[in-house]
Amino acid sequence: METGLKGKIALVTGSGSGIGKAIALGLAREGVGIAVNDVNQQNAEGAVAEIREMGSSAMAVMASVADETAVKKMAERIVAEWGGIDILVNNAGVTNHLLIEDTEGKEWERVLSVNLSGAFNCSKAVVPSMKKRGGGRIINIVSYSGERMTMIGGVSYTSSKSGIWGLTRQLSFELGPYQITVNGISPGNVITPMLKSGTTPERLEAMKKWYPLRDMPTPEDIADAAVFLASDRARMITGINLAVDGGVTVPIAIGVDWDTYVRVKKEEVEKIKAKAKR
Ligand SMILES: NC(=O)c1ccc[n+]([C@@H]2O[C@H](COP(=O)([O-])OP(=O)(O)OC[C@H]3O[C@@H](n4cnc5c(N)ncnc54)[C@H](O)[C@@H]3O)[C@@H](O)[C@H]2O)c1
Repeated sequence: METGLKGKIALVTGSGSGIGKAIALGLAREGVGIAVNDVNQQNAEGAVAEIREMGSSAMAVMASVADETAVKKMAERIVAEWGGIDILVNNAGVTNHLLIEDTEGKEWERVLSVNLSGAFNCSKAVVPSMKKRGGGRIINIVSYSGERMTMIGGVSYTSSKSGIWGLTRQLSFELGPYQITVNGISPGNVITPMLKSGTTPERLEAMKKWYPLRDMPTPEDIADAAVFLASDRARMITGINLAVDGGVTVPIAIGVDWDTYVRVKKEEVEKIKAKAKR
């Protein structure tokens, strides 16, 4: 598939680890120069080294996405060194596993400041360069909890993810005339350090049963979707929230798993047969 991505420049936030790193590597494979942002320097430098080994360009740009001034400086540095920014992936995220009664205001602010204000700060910082270049792509990593709820994270996480999905819709309208598309990707449960922090290996294995496809997405599955949305092939797609979740959000009857679903329907057949015999 011709993606038109060769020579483009991307800023991927939180790309020292997990989903962000897979997206950075996926875009780099298509010839995109990657500004690897993270707060963890060792991880960021590790991702940069992997990308360079692949023969693509990369630089580490350390900043907390929650810090508006640092984000502005980071974007200015990328533009000064590489000439501009074509793609922004707002991926950096944090979570906790707390009920509302255990969530201090400071903790609520911490999650919202990274997951939501971080996406605002980065989007605002890259728009001038995208406008100058005649277009761009903003891809926001949402979560199915942005439209529903989370079983593993907490109230601040779900609220932040609903917020970034709202930001996605609003920006797709505002930035459309500048040929900047803005889309969300909502992963299912992806086994990364973040997910591992809120569960156990046994539970992770058991979770596969929730999935119609009987498997959970990998970071690379999310990266494939991001590469597509960043490419020329997705030029007419904006304002969507693409679920890459193995169908986990399809069932509407909470608590009804596949075994129950099939058993109830088989029982119905038996009832029909019994009635016909009478
Ligand atoms: N893992 C899942 O099941 C899952 C599901 C749905 C959505 N998501 C979302 O995907 C994104 C990536 O999550 P992940 O699972 O790869 O987690 P992860 O913890 O492996 O990666 C998150 C990265 O963000 C970085 N980061 C944290 N705070 C930052 C800040 N202030 N500024 C810059 N970087 C910062 C971390 O250092 C880390 O490298 C998050 O937005 C998360 O909410 C994850």
